Amino acid sequence: MTTAAPSVHPRELSDAPDWWRQAVVYQVYPRSFADSNGDGLGDIPGITSRVPYLAQLGVDAIWLSPFYPSALADGGYDVADYRDVDPRLGSLADMDELIAELHAHGIRVVVDIVPNHTSNDHAWFQEALAAGRGSAARDRYIFREGTGPDGSEPPTDWQSVFGGSAWERVADGQWYFHNFDVSQPDLNWANPEVRADFVKTLRFWSDRGVDGFRIDVAHMLTKDLTEPLPSAAELAALPQDGNHPLLDRDDVHEVYAEWRAVFNSYDPPRTAVAEAWVHPSRVPLYASIDSLGQAFNFDLLEADFDARQFRRIVTDNLALAARSGSSTTWVLSNHDVVRHATRYGLPDAERGADGRPTLKHGNRWLLSGGTEPALDAERGQRRARAAALFVLGLPGSAYLYQGEELGLHEVADIPDSARQDPTFFRSPGVDQGRDGCRVPLPWTAEGPAFGFGDAAAHLPQPDWFAAYAVDRQDGDPASTLSMYRRALDLRHELQTAEQLEWLDLGREDAVGFARPDGWIVVTNFGTEPIALPAGEVLLSSVPVEAGTLPGEASVWLRA
Ligand code: GLC
Repeated sequence: MTTAAPSVHPRELSDAPDWWRQAVVYQVYPRSFADSNGDGLGDIPGITSRVPYLAQLGVDAIWLSPFYPSALADGGYDVADYRDVDPRLGSLADMDELIAELHAHGIRVVVDIVPNHTSNDHAWFQEALAAGRGSAARDRYIFREGTGPDGSEPPTDWQSVFGGSAWERVADGQWYFHNFDVSQPDLNWANPEVRADFVKTLRFWSDRGVDGFRIDVAHMLTKDLTEPLPSAAELAALPQDGNHPLLDRDDVHEVYAEWRAVFNSYDPPRTAVAEAWVHPSRVPLYASIDSLGQAFNFDLLEADFDARQFRRIVTDNLALAARSGSSTTWVLSNHDVVRHATRYGLPDAERGADGRPTLKHGNRWLLSGGTEPALDAERGQRRARAAALFVLGLPGSAYLYQGEELGLHEVADIPDSARQDPTFFRSPGVDQGRDGCRVPLPWTAEGPAFGFGDAAAHLPQPDWFAAYAVDRQDGDPASTLSMYRRALDLRHELQTAEQLEWLDLGREDAVGFARPDGWIVVTNFGTEPIALPAGEVLLSSVPVEAGTLPGEASVWLRA
């Protein structure tokens, strides 16, 4: 267990062009981080006020989920203007201040770019509606005539990712395509104006000092919608080999090659990370240095707390990273999935023939409001701490999701009347949606909104949040927050070449690896204690005595 007090030394901003390769990137979901003006919604000045917290945590960069003007129909992933700030969240001047403050504390800034679709409030979409069929304004989106005698049936039977038809009819009878919510019309990436506008956006934020970009659904932008369009069943049967009409098309990399030239025109070059839900063999295309340069690897996020799965995932992803020349990324949680402390406290996922969980987001567990099957909250947290030390010991970069450093659980019982996520509304009774991981953070055990802000938070915070509050954990050497702080601090000291060597621990349910220069990481996924290799204990997820690691725990050793 950690005993040393966390160090609070603002780091210098590294000017190494490859700062991102082994960075710890902390995802801030702006609406739910800190509310400075008491309107119940987190905002940019709120984040600025918490920069000392982020510096003390020791992160190298933050990734900001969208903060742009938005009707918040999809938590801000419905962007009405890519080059401005939502007035409820602040102003461009507030963003400038946040960027300056983060940089002054040695923390880089990654912002979210949502290029597949705009909001239906975007000036372009409003123009498209007004301009009518066949217009240049409609060509920026994907408009088609309907089917049936009077065109009142959608062009195809395709379903949107959030449920329901992927087509919506407008007043003059045409239909537009939306992969996600009806409020998120897909852009037409064959249109040069669309391409030029995103280059402008990337330059806009790069010129303001943003260091990198997270690219939303990077595998969806380009499409081949040559008539006749296939049916949903035909679409599903088509291989995703680079020529699929809608997904992971090879030609999307023409877009990213153009972006790469933009990124490389800055010093240091701007970085990008792809959110691309593609077959693992195709991840290196996005992670390639000629394309976006890095891609999320969601394998751990889909895995059970299981030694074999973890070991295989690490081996496979280090090999994939070697193929792309990029570094690996590790993700246990984000704003789209059930928090891992909760996932690990529930029975293992049900899996299909391909080994992947059968329901997206693992949201099946929330159908019961988290009571059936019962959540073992303590076990989930214990495993989450062990998994965190495993991931933070790996080569590559680690993406943390706000609140995981508090060991926070999913809020499983948000009343339907308070839910916001379109996945809930578009699939009634099937998917509880993603609000449970987006509930505003508890900063203090007492006081309004647990210190999030002066008003009730936009998603209701449960009473049990008090036990997880930052001020409860601050200064408690046994807390999850103290463990994360110590881990990030030590990681800076110990971080070395992007390699590892597996250790033979003589047990199938435990995994150990050594990094160059004597840094050893051991995780016991089983419940029986295991004897540790020789070495000085630097940090552990539970108290460790006499060379033995208890079950469901991790330790860092110096050989
Ligand atoms: C990505 C985002 C998710 C959003 C979707 C549509 O998957 O992570 O939150 O709903 O894209 O933009």
